[in-house]
Amino acid sequence: MWNIPFFPPTASKEGEAISVLYWTISWLAIFFGAIVLFGAIYLAVKYRASNEAARRDDAVETDMKLELTWTLVPLVLALVIFGWAAKLYADIYAPREGAYEVFVIGKQWMWHCQHPNGVRENNELHLPAGRLIKVTAISQDVIHAFSIPAFRVKRDVVPGRYNTMFFTPTQPGKYHLFCTEYCGTKHSEMIGWVYVMPPEEFEKWLAGGGAAAAPTAMSLEEQGKQVFEGIGGCNTCHMNPMYKAPDLRGLFGKKVKLADGSTVVADEAYIRESILNPAAKVVAGYQAAMPAYQGVLSEEQVVQLIAYIKSLANQKPAGGQ
Ligand code: CUA
Repeated sequence: MWNIPFFPPTASKEGEAISVLYWTISWLAIFFGAIVLFGAIYLAVKYRASNEAARRDDAVETDMKLELTWTLVPLVLALVIFGWAAKLYADIYAPREGAYEVFVIGKQWMWHCQHPNGVRENNELHLPAGRLIKVTAISQDVIHAFSIPAFRVKRDVVPGRYNTMFFTPTQPGKYHLFCTEYCGTKHSEMIGWVYVMPPEEFEKWLAGGGAAAAPTAMSLEEQGKQVFEGIGGCNTCHMNPMYKAPDLRGLFGKKVKLADGSTVVADEAYIRESILNPAAKVVAGYQAAMPAYQGVLSEEQVVQLIAYIKSLANQKPAGGQ
């Protein structure tokens, strides 16, 4: 009869660890809260005005041992909780290898998810159980926040930068996906569902092109190649030795020397910036000749281009360096 969920299900490896921490803090708070509450009631009764104990002249004013106890015990507890929580937090956001990667784009007012093989979803995200997932998220307009309470993950999704998070879903099932940053009129409708499937079922779903009846879309890489050679026109300069533009083969993940003498790693964020605002980081030995693609390409197209440039990582540049 009463079915009010006060607590979300715990459906990720990271979430299980966070739940243990959560309940530890909660029970500690209840324990110390009870000591303070019942202690106050007990003392109020014992030293009430009509009681003789209130009028004694040997009352103890200070007690060093007591002072130290109630200072040091909470201090140690708080430090332990801090260290424990910081470790769990770092585990969710620190990069880990071998993850299944999904791109998430937030826009007013929906979630747009892209799988590596090209399958897209709106306000739905299908994931395999038991596998590490990496979500790379960006916003196309205002600040949103991507939150899956059952996995205990939440991160701001902001325009202009990629934010990542890692988690491992454990239980197949259907879980709420929320936007947890007020982002305008329909913020409350910016919700969706995460479907966690057994791995084999997920592979079938993915190979079948997702829920769509249409045959499988092109992979993210292939879509990127189309943007690269189509609307982007990147190949005219970047794949042509006649023009002086950096070769993009073998670039991803490598260190790049810049004109100002510094170096950067060619990761997703660097490539995105170099597409939208090429003048920000000019490669050493090159002119800032490339036009900015800010406002020309959508975040989706940038994600596709990054997937394509990533796929060129193992190829040799024409210069043979
Ligand atoms: Cu998007 Cu709130």
